[in-house]
Amino acid sequence: MSDRPIMVTGGEGQLASALVAAAHRPLLRLGRPDFDFDRPETIAAVFHAANPALVVNAAAYTAVDAAENDVDAAFRANRDGPAILARLCAAHDVPLIHVSTDYVFDGAKGAPYHEGDPVCPQGVYGVSKLAGEDAVLASGARAAIVRTSWVYSATGKNFVRTMLTLGKSRDRLTVVADQRGCPTAAPDLASAILAMADRMEQGWRQEYAGVFHAAGSGETTWHGLACAVFEAAAERGMTPPRVDPIATADWPTPARRPADSRLDCAKLERVFGVRLPAWRDSVARTVAVLLAGAEA
Ligand SMILES: NC(=O)c1ccc[n+]([C@@H]2O[C@H](COP(=O)([O-])OP(=O)(O)OC[C@H]3O[C@@H](n4cnc5c(N)ncnc54)[C@H](OP(=O)(O)O)[C@@H]3O)[C@@H](O)[C@H]2O)c1
Repeated sequence: MSDRPIMVTGGEGQLASALVAAAHRPLLRLGRPDFDFDRPETIAAVFHAANPALVVNAAAYTAVDAAENDVDAAFRANRDGPAILARLCAAHDVPLIHVSTDYVFDGAKGAPYHEGDPVCPQGVYGVSKLAGEDAVLASGARAAIVRTSWVYSATGKNFVRTMLTLGKSRDRLTVVADQRGCPTAAPDLASAILAMADRMEQGWRQEYAGVFHAAGSGETTWHGLACAVFEAAAERGMTPPRVDPIATADWPTPARRPADSRLDCAKLERVFGVRLPAWRDSVARTVAVLLAGAEA
C-alpha cells in the first residue's frame, strides 16, 4: 500500500470527520479556507501539495432547501469544483471516490433504485449533484461515484441529532411518514469507502469505475427513523416524546424531496464485498454516543 496519503475533502463535515476517525493509514483532511470550491485556484494547489495516492471527495453544498435560492454556490461546490478535482485526478492517474446522493432520483419508482435507473432530480441540490456525477465521469479519472442517503452522525447537523434535541424539550413531535429511504451512519459509510479505497490501491480493476449505491441496510420513513431514535434513547433512560406521523404536504419545504429514494446496494457488495450494517443498529449506536456525551 502506498505511503502517500488519502486526500479527503470536506473539512469538518460528517463524512470527512468519520473518515478521519475510521482511517488506519495516513489521511489528509482538507477543508475551507485552504481547500475551497469557491476559490478554484485552491484545488490544484492543495492537490499538488498533498500528492495523494487516492482522493475522497466528501465536500459538497449539502443544504438542500437553501440551494433553491443559492444556485450558483451549489453548482460551484457540487459540479464545478468536483470537475476540476476529477481532471487533476485524471491527469495524475489518481483514483477518485466522489460522494453523491439519492436525491438524483425523483422517488417515483416504487422500489429500491439500482445504479442504472433513470435519474430525475427534484431540486437544485439534486440537479447540481447529478451534474457533478456527470462531470466526474466525463473527466477520464479512474472514479467511483458513491451515492448515499439520509446521512447522520454523532456530530454535525443531522436529523438524528435534531430529533434528540427536540425530544428533550417537547412532549410531542410530528414527523413526515410518507418519505421512504435508507438512513446511513457516517461511520458506516466511511468504513465502506475506506474498504473501497483499499481494494483500489491493491490494483485497479475496470469494475471499480462507475456508480455505486452505499446506504444503511434496510429502509424506513423519517417517522420510523425518529421512532427508532427515541426507542434507543428510552433504553438509556430518556423519556421519549410522542411522535405523530404527518404527510409531506403538511410539512412544506422550499425543495421537493423524493418520496421513495431507497437505494439497492447489491452492486457495492458484489464488486467490493462491502455491505453497510442494518440502519436501526447504527441509529442505536449513535444515540448511545450522543447520550453518553450529554452526560459527560
Ligand atoms: N447529509 C446527508 O444527508 C447526505 C445525503 C446524501 C448524500 N450526501 C452526500 O454525502 C457527502 C458528505 O456529506 P456530509 O453529510 O458529510 O455533509 P456536511 O456535513 O454538510 O459536510 C460537507 C462539507 O463540505 C464542505 N463544503 C461546502 N461547500 C464547500 C465549498 N464550496 N468548498 C469546499 N468545501 C465545501 C463543508 O465545509 P464548511 O464546514 O466549511 O461549510 C463541509 O465541511 C456529500 O457529497 C453529500 O452531498 C449527504
